[in-house]
Amino acid sequence: MIAANWKMYKTPAEARACATALLRLLAGHERDEIVICPPSISLSIVLDTLSGTGLAVGAQNMHFAEEGAYTGEISAPMLTSIGVTHVILGHSERRLYFNETDETVNQKLHTALKHGLTPIVCVGEVLEQREKGLTEEVLIRQVARALRDISPDRAQPLVIAYEPVWAIGTGKTATPEMAAQAHGIIRGEVARRLDRRLADHLRILYGGSVRPDNASSLLNQAEIDGALVGGASLKPESFAELVKHGSGIGDPA
Ligand code: PGA
Repeated sequence: MIAANWKMYKTPAEARACATALLRLLAGHERDEIVICPPSISLSIVLDTLSGTGLAVGAQNMHFAEEGAYTGEISAPMLTSIGVTHVILGHSERRLYFNETDETVNQKLHTALKHGLTPIVCVGEVLEQREKGLTEEVLIRQVARALRDISPDRAQPLVIAYEPVWAIGTGKTATPEMAAQAHGIIRGEVARRLDRRLADHLRILYGGSVRPDNASSLLNQAEIDGALVGGASLKPESFAELVKHGSGIGDPA
């Protein structure tokens, strides 16, 4: 899976233009599940543009309640009613700037799975935690809390994104080996909390300064099942190039 996180970029008209360009650039591409996550105001327009094309559309966030007096929020039933199929949960920017916690991520995960959305749950350590040797502890805690009371029968669509916070938007990337090690920790915790078979099949994405020039070395790691891409997804050319590199299409032999 290659997911594009457009964050708070692009007006609806720009989002439509970018989605249209992507369709042209990715024509015939079938290897990956590609998910475009625009700002919520552009979900409908991007859905219209991509309808019937095999490119999926995801939200960047949602509320855990199905409806209610939550000014400014969007619910899972609202997303599914327009055809959104995926949702990013617990992105580090949500945790840092909007008080998102492991507990709210857990509540949102319950709701997303109940409504048939494919959740992309983000976890990752900050630089200080990595430098203190706490990465494993942080990842285990975030995964364990996100999965609290989630039943293995329901969790099948789950996707986890490992996004070391120090690598997001900084140009610094985890080495493929660092990412693979973190993915192994996450997979182990999912096996403990849910089910070994589910963990073996779980898709774990890497996110944090993924670009066309580093996509193939990251995605060549057996433990890395895809990428969550911010900055490099904003230009259709660079995102399409990254998708092709990551799939081994057009790589030098
Ligand atoms: P980046 O963002 O690719 O710009 O580092 C990744 C993310 O925040 O999901």
